[in-house]
Amino acid sequence: DWTMAAYKEEAIEKIRAQVGDAKVICGLSGGVDSSVAAVLIHEAIGDQLTCVFVDHGLMRQGEAEEVVTLFRDHYNIPLIHADEAELFLGELEGVSDPEEKRKTIGRLFIDVFQKHAGEIGGAEFLAQGTLYPDVIESVSFAGGPSVTIKSHHNVGGLPEKMGLKLVEPLRELFKDEVRKLGEELGLDERFIGRHPFPGPGLAIRCPGEITRDKLDILRRADAVYIDQIRQHGLYDEIWQAFVALLPVRTVGVMGDGRTYDYACALRAVTSVDGMTADYYPFSHEFLGETANRIINEVTGINRVTYDITSKPPGTIEWE
Ligand code: XMP
Repeated sequence: DWTMAAYKEEAIEKIRAQVGDAKVICGLSGGVDSSVAAVLIHEAIGDQLTCVFVDHGLMRQGEAEEVVTLFRDHYNIPLIHADEAELFLGELEGVSDPEEKRKTIGRLFIDVFQKHAGEIGGAEFLAQGTLYPDVIESVSFAGGPSVTIKSHHNVGGLPEKMGLKLVEPLRELFKDEVRKLGEELGLDERFIGRHPFPGPGLAIRCPGEITRDKLDILRRADAVYIDQIRQHGLYDEIWQAFVALLPVRTVGVMGDGRTYDYACALRAVTSVDGMTADYYPFSHEFLGETANRIINEVTGINRVTYDITSKPPGTIEWE
């Protein structure tokens, strides 16, 4: 794709011009945006870049290891693996309001970054994989009045508080363009094709108070659901799919016993840029099979529902 090849060269020149010989710190989330940003910036300025993967204890099953291993094996980009699960989960104890969750997580991200920016000998810049829709959504929504729907913690606020300047080489791009740029950069298919994953992670897929037990149940259910989607060859047709663990227990029957366990909701949507979305029309057969698997394989869940809300009026995530 010649346009992306040209875009890449231009972006590299811009990054060099902006950064000079200063150090840059980049938050790696494992998602396609931050991965593409990191590889692009590394091509531009080499080891002036250090990546930090903040493991907030809110990643999906096996994800932290997967991201760190894949990055260490494929790229020579200095990468700090910050295991901060204790810190994040501790501070989130008793927090159930969605915006308070987001703000708490955003604040802790700043603390962790600041710590590591200091460690690498004074970074002057913070790199983020902010996309065009992120910029738009934090200002207005669907042409409506200027309201913030959700505190998107990778937009605004963060660097000023840290005294860092911002490098955002993807700010003009939409998701499909970022994927093309990723291909242009030779990024691993496992990163390029990945569904988006929000910075606050599983915290916003676990309405109400977050506990380690709930996160554990949620992780196992999500892994079964994604496995089902992959097995049926549907992963690439779907923009994003995940399980939300509901803060409600319901009565069920299993074998000859009564159960009283959590209900969960499956979410899957199609979308072009995340700004609007339609629920994915799974077959009833797929849904039934998935519900059975989750209830049989995941202790703690005895009821599965499917979320058929589009965006708008819903949002993709539950919080
Ligand atoms: P919503 O739920 O607002 O999500 O319809 C739109 C898209 O954005 C992702 N999302 C986030 N990504 N930090 C991120 O990096 C966040 O705070 C955040 N909140 C939502 C969401 O997963 C979906 O792809």
